[in-house]
Amino acid sequence: MRDINQYTITDAVKASFHAEEGSRFKVLLETFIEHLHDYTREVNLTHAEWMGVLNFLYDCGKISTPERHEFILLSDVLGFSALVDMINTRGGATEGSNLGPFYLEESPRKALGADLGGEREGVCVLVRGQVRDTLGNPLPGAVIDTWQADATGSYPIQEQERGQDKYDLRGIFTADDKGEYYYTTVLPKPYTVPYDGPVGKLLRAGNRHAWRAAHLHFIVRAAGMRAITTELFFENTEYIDNDAVFGVRKSLIGKIEPVKKTESFDLPLEKRPDAKIQFDFVLAPAG
Ligand code: BEZ
Ligand code: FE
Repeated sequence: MRDINQYTITDAVKASFHAEEGSRFKVLLETFIEHLHDYTREVNLTHAEWMGVLNFLYDCGKISTPERHEFILLSDVLGFSALVDMINTRGGATEGSNLGPFYLEESPRKALGADLGGEREGVCVLVRGQVRDTLGNPLPGAVIDTWQADATGSYPIQEQERGQDKYDLRGIFTADDKGEYYYTTVLPKPYTVPYDGPVGKLLRAGNRHAWRAAHLHFIVRAAGMRAITTELFFENTEYIDNDAVFGVRKSLIGKIEPVKKTESFDLPLEKRPDAKIQFDFVLAPAG
C-alpha cells in the first residue's frame, strides 16, 4: 500500500473493497472506479477542476427536492438516461425513452375514446394504435398510461399555483379486445427542461439549449410482458433533431395527419379531432 502511485492506486482502491465474488455490485463498483481513475489520469485533472466537479454535484443535491431531482436531469442532458433506455430495449419491442419528472402513479382511469384536452386551446388530435407482442399478436387488456404537456408546452402539474389540476392531460386506458387504444387530446408543444439550476449552468457553459421536442409520454403494460416507458414524437416538429435529453428515436416519430371535414370515425369518440396519429406499441415477453 505504501508503494502506491498514480498507476497502482486503481487496483489498491479496488482491493480495499471486499464485495461478494461474482456479484453484480462488485462489477459495477470496480468498473466505476477503473473508469473514473482512467478519466482522471487521461485529462490530468487539477485540484481546481476536481473541486469544480464536486461543488457542481453539491449544488445538484442542494437544489433537489422530492419534486425536482437534479441528478436525473443531469443524467438526461448527458445522455445517460437515453443510453440506459437503449441498452434495456428488448429486440423487437418498441424502443424506450425518457420517463421525465412529471409521471404520476395515480393517474385517472379513462374510457377509450375519452378526450384528455378538455377546453384547452390547440389542435385536437386522435391518438390511436394497437398493442402487440413481438410475434405480432394483439394484447387485449394492455394498459396504456399517458401524460403530456399542453399546447403552450406546460404540464398541468407545473401550473397548480395557477389553478390547474395535476391530473389533467393524463390518463390510463385499457386496450380493447383487439389490443387497440384510441383517445383524443391536444397536440403538445416543445418545452424546456428546468435550466435555473446547476444543470442549466452546464448547458449554458456548453452553449446548449434546453428545449425538448414535443412528445407524448407512455408507459405500456400487459400481463406476462415487459412494460415499456417511451415517448411519441411528431415528424417535422421543432427540436426533433436536437432534443435536450436525447429522447428522440427514428422509430418513435409519428406522422400527424390532418382530418378532413367529411372524414368520419367508426369509433366512440368524445370529441371530433382536427388531426390524427397512429402509433403501435410492441411489448416483449417478461423475463
Ligand atoms: C419530460 O419529458 O417531461 C422531461 C424529461 C427530462 C427532463 C425534464 C422533462
Ligand atoms: Fe415530457
